[in-house]
Amino acid sequence: MRFDIVRREVVTSTMDVARELAERGAPEGTVVLADAQTAGRGRAGHVWHSPPGQSLYLSLVLRPRLAPAQAGWITLSAALAVLDTLEALRPFAPQPFSTAIKWFNDVLLNGRKVCGILVESSLTGAQFDFAVLGIGLNVNTRFDDAPADVQQRATSLRRELGHPLDREHILTSLLKHLDERQIELSLGQRNPTGEYARRVETLGKQVEIDTGAGGVRGRAVRIADDGSLIVATDQGEIAARFGDLVRQV
Ligand code: BTN
Repeated sequence: MRFDIVRREVVTSTMDVARELAERGAPEGTVVLADAQTAGRGRAGHVWHSPPGQSLYLSLVLRPRLAPAQAGWITLSAALAVLDTLEALRPFAPQPFSTAIKWFNDVLLNGRKVCGILVESSLTGAQFDFAVLGIGLNVNTRFDDAPADVQQRATSLRRELGHPLDREHILTSLLKHLDERQIELSLGQRNPTGEYARRVETLGKQVEIDTGAGGVRGRAVRIADDGSLIVATDQGEIAARFGDLVRQV
């Protein structure tokens, strides 16, 4: 994939800028990269802490040749590419670290969230017009002025590796790994669910799915072909789909 990087100082959200560009015909591979976001967002209306000069906030325009039922593959492939990016740092890290994916879009470093992934799509009928893949990777983030819950649950490469990292170096590595994972995805050739299932830490754990009408508990047993999390409950198996709130209990 050929990347065309559109660099901005401050934006509301790179998702908005990338969407506008995609609507005006920007090709697959257009990347909007911002130094800071004033309204960075995560799923379920969460705010994404986006201070200037510290981390990577980017949105990539994709024009997937996937069926809508396979839309989740974009998130799964991106999570694997982020994991590849973290793994590439291992030989140079001054101390050991652990990496994991928490279903469906959280990448963890030493058990804390280091990266969030957000996909927003535009469809006409059963065809993608485009998808925007947003990635927030906490490279050198300081959480001093972040809300207390973010301070507790989130981390950065700097915090876990013990030294600041070069954002441009991490960006180059991330784009390379996205390219390796994503280009075949756009062509609809590779199903990432098998590898994702091997890397996701949620399988085998007790979870609670928030159904809106109360929680349903069970054991996460497998990843379905569309990326859903299959949970075995007393009433049989149920599928948690992207966007459903699932927490480990
Ligand atoms: C999540 O974990 O809920 C997803 C967080 C996604 C954050 C990134 S930062 C770049 C892009 N712009 C946004 O406003 N959000 C995504």
